[in-house]
Amino acid sequence: MNEDQAMTPHSAVQEVVFDEETIRTRVRELGREISREYSEADRLVMIGVLKGSFLFMADLARALDVTFEVDFLMASSYGDATVSSGEVTFLYEPRTDLEGRAVLLVEDIVDSGTTLSALIPRLEERGASCVEVVTLLHKRLTNGVFEPRWVGFDAPKSFLVGYGLDHAEAFRHLPYIASL
Ligand code: PRP
Repeated sequence: MNEDQAMTPHSAVQEVVFDEETIRTRVRELGREISREYSEADRLVMIGVLKGSFLFMADLARALDVTFEVDFLMASSYGDATVSSGEVTFLYEPRTDLEGRAVLLVEDIVDSGTTLSALIPRLEERGASCVEVVTLLHKRLTNGVFEPRWVGFDAPKSFLVGYGLDHAEAFRHLPYIASL
């Protein structure tokens, strides 16, 4: 076996920034906080923004004690561009009828806020009575333009992978968040 074959995702990360236990504890807290905010009358729909939110969404859903439906959306990403064109389009749009319903958007990370600033009006146009955001990580680069209602952790500026976050589509499965 050569050196490349010996390199695994776990061994490739530089430093664990949020370990499994820290994430688990915070997700349970978020679950309790969010559950207090909604009732049956809200007809809550939890919408995960693919792909990065998939692990957080699964854990948060199990931490909620309120009735809700689950759906997903996928938005166009920047690709290799370093600066966003500001145009965000749906690659997959929720199939659920959102008319008169409370929407909780679930994100893994908010960076510039461009994605959510574009998605929220689109969901409101579809008749959602209110759209709130929970993000596990927040880079605080949004300059007050857009603030998620619930934030798991303030994120360091380093490039993060794991618990949904990728580098070239790898590392999403790591149960912790690490810098690369
Ligand atoms: C990431 C993340 C957010 C967005 C945040 O998604 O999941 O959706 O970027 O960036 P912004 O605040 O600057 O708009 P990405 O496009 O990397 O796709 P992925 O979820 O499939 O990894």
